[in-house]
Amino acid sequence: MVDGTTRRTILKTVAAIPLAASIGLIVSPLVRFLRPTLKPLDVFGNSDQPIAEPPVPTFKASDFPEPWTCIPFMFKQSYLEYNPEGKEVRQIPGFIVKLPTGDVVAYSRICPHLGCIFNFVKDPTECSKGYNFKPAGPVFACPCHLSVYDIAQAGKVVSGPAPRPPRRFDIKKVGDNFQILSLEAGGIA
Ligand code: FES
Repeated sequence: MVDGTTRRTILKTVAAIPLAASIGLIVSPLVRFLRPTLKPLDVFGNSDQPIAEPPVPTFKASDFPEPWTCIPFMFKQSYLEYNPEGKEVRQIPGFIVKLPTGDVVAYSRICPHLGCIFNFVKDPTECSKGYNFKPAGPVFACPCHLSVYDIAQAGKVVSGPAPRPPRRFDIKKVGDNFQILSLEAGGIA
């Protein structure tokens, strides 16, 4: 037998279910709007932005014996996909370069113009012959439409149609090693 208090509690609980469902229906899209990179149904989880696929490229300080040492590498980036593996791993080509200041910087080699793979051109004369522009020092230069990026000026576009500098990698110094941790977010352009 159900007394009055228990019946009231049951009725209140039953009445609260549609209210809770309605709040959920309102809050869920709002959270997705505020944090659009969340995995579906995982509002407190990690974002679904691409992340580095280990092991990350690692270099020793001794790999850079002199300024303008430039080393190509491949960075594996994992993208959330609704396939059996739950992800797709893509390879992003990059360059890591030691500047005359002693800083070490790394950039994606994917040209921000239309996505060709650009080169490291150390000799300004070679750049003026091959890319129609004489820079003051070593540059990145794209063979497709001749965009030229000044590495000493944070990848600034100094010639050609590219709309912005190439995307940069985050580098962490661990002891004597440089680890490439992540790639600046964004598409080609
Ligand atoms: S794709 Fe590199 S300049 Fe056009």
